[in-house]
Amino acid sequence: MIMDKKILLCVTGGIAVYKAAALTSKLVQAGAQVKVILSESAEKFVTPLTFQALSRNEVFTDTFDEKNPHVIAHIDLADWADLILVAPATANTIAKLANGIADNMITTTMLAATAPVWIAPAMNVHMYDHPAVKKNLSILAEYGYQFIEPSEGYLACGYVGKGRLEEPEKIVELIRSFFAKDERKQLIGKTVVVTAGPTREKIDPVRFISNHSTGKMGFAIAEEAKRQGAHVVLVSGPVQIPAPAGVELIKVESGEEMYNTVIKFYESADVVIKTAAVADYRPKITYDQKVKKQTGDAVIDLERTKDILFELGQRKKNQVLVGFAAETENLEEYARIKLTKKNADLIVANNVKTAGAGFGTDTNIVTLFKRSGAVIELPVMSKKDVAKKIIEEVTSLLKDMGKNANS
Ligand code: CTP
Repeated sequence: MIMDKKILLCVTGGIAVYKAAALTSKLVQAGAQVKVILSESAEKFVTPLTFQALSRNEVFTDTFDEKNPHVIAHIDLADWADLILVAPATANTIAKLANGIADNMITTTMLAATAPVWIAPAMNVHMYDHPAVKKNLSILAEYGYQFIEPSEGYLACGYVGKGRLEEPEKIVELIRSFFAKDERKQLIGKTVVVTAGPTREKIDPVRFISNHSTGKMGFAIAEEAKRQGAHVVLVSGPVQIPAPAGVELIKVESGEEMYNTVIKFYESADVVIKTAAVADYRPKITYDQKVKKQTGDAVIDLERTKDILFELGQRKKNQVLVGFAAETENLEEYARIKLTKKNADLIVANNVKTAGAGFGTDTNIVTLFKRSGAVIELPVMSKKDVAKKIIEEVTSLLKDMGKNANS
């Protein structure tokens, strides 16, 4: 159940940090992907290197140490996690979280997070009983945070009482059963083909025609379909983001390559989701050598590419076919035309001119147009949540066709 789950472990400074190291090791052994953030005080007990070696991932300590120029680390980590675990959680960090303070990498990341959060307090028994700590814990409970209650026993300060961080084995068990509950997978036994990203239509060896698609929406859909248990084939044009774990990634460049790949998987597919921004035109001639500049203007003759979604619609047997419509005006009218013309079951339409929708952003604002005539207008959402909605709709369309999970 823990296999490939993404667990963000936030370690704050208490003597129980050594248990967090053991917990990291056990989670990794159980197949989880673990990323660790250490507070400055935690570093006084165990070095980042220990956690790096155990998690096999780089460790984060400083909000301003941006290792990857393509992302903002605290937002990226917050988005990445399936579960955030603060263990051990000191009274100080609990107080900061309860008050929305964001003064280090852990507290900043947690303000940006939407994943479930678990807090495992560990401190002296009197500190744990202090009304300030109790009040802060109850505030966190109101935020929906869950707690791994400290256990009773010998405390490092010499006292015997409640305050010990729960044993790593027990925490792993709790995480296991959490994901087991979460695991009512809807697409087991189904093959879902997702296309994503832009295509590149070559002019010559150094130039091409393309567009602004980053692949984020398609990759989020592939990840969600995988989470629901599907065998996912992700056919992607050139993008800069990593593929979700466990999907079959096939990299393509041109629309023609994308068409040939999708057609190959079409017979065996239960669902095809065409998120890719396929070029509608390509240069009539692709030159083998770099075209040298001439005096005066240049003209490139373009020809139509194959409309992959249209072709799939023509050959559709019992697949669920989902298309996208990126529009700048007359959203509903154009989306409905695409639904009929391309024989799709669902069109996901967005106005790419609206702030918070479209290329490159982490959010999207979409409206779903179903063949039945139903229209589902969604508010601004993260692309991950939009992906969940799309997969929910796909699941219900499969059920309408009598294709339940495993059938
Ligand atoms: N599509 C495709 N093959 C193409 C072009 C688009 O499969 N050659 C798919 C896209 O993946 C998307 C949908 O068709 O799912 C978009 O519909 P389309 O009518 O092509 O929209 P635009 O490319 O935006 O073109 P236009 O609005 O000019 O018709």
